[in-house]
Amino acid sequence: MSTDIRIGIVTVSDRASAGIYADEGGPAIRDYLDKVLASLWHPVIRVIPDDRKIIADTLVELADREGCCLIVTTGGTGPAPRDVTPEATEDVVEKPMPGFGELMRQVSLTKVPTAILSRQTAGIRGKALIVNLPGRPRAIAECLDAVMPAIPYCIDLIEGPYLETDPAVLVAFRPATKPKT
Ligand code: MTE
Repeated sequence: MSTDIRIGIVTVSDRASAGIYADEGGPAIRDYLDKVLASLWHPVIRVIPDDRKIIADTLVELADREGCCLIVTTGGTGPAPRDVTPEATEDVVEKPMPGFGELMRQVSLTKVPTAILSRQTAGIRGKALIVNLPGRPRAIAECLDAVMPAIPYCIDLIEGPYLETDPAVLVAFRPATKPKT
């Protein structure tokens, strides 16, 4: 396995994937990660409809074949009939990571009362962490600011590449290593 850092960015939207409107969420995630990450990384980008099987297949492809250590989705987390991103995520993860959704909702509720409507979740598939974000572009920084500090250490724990952040922008949480005696 190379040390190449590959990050999946998946926009889940019937309308963006059909070209009815431009995808704003995917580019917002990419801009956010460009600002925060000091390590060289490569985006693997997908824009797909709100279809449970297509979402699940895309997550599997990015985790298993594209070698992404982190996959961030945007959209499809609400209660509407076509919102199935959390179900598709649960279909493919081996370990659910409910703390990510809990923290993002908690922080988002201080910004918008409608944050309670997002069922966003996260989980581990192999050596990939999958994190759902809501579809609104402004929700991206609101949610990533909350969970990003924990993401590099989570990826360490699943034996992924070492992600460095720019400490002037965001300090990643990593427990201090014990000095050797
Ligand atoms: N969270 C944050 N931080 N900011 C937001 O603007 N929008 C909410 C919520 N969570 C929002 C948010 C709204 S309006 C909805 S309907 C749900 O996320 C689900 O959005 P989705 O179906 O586009 O994923």
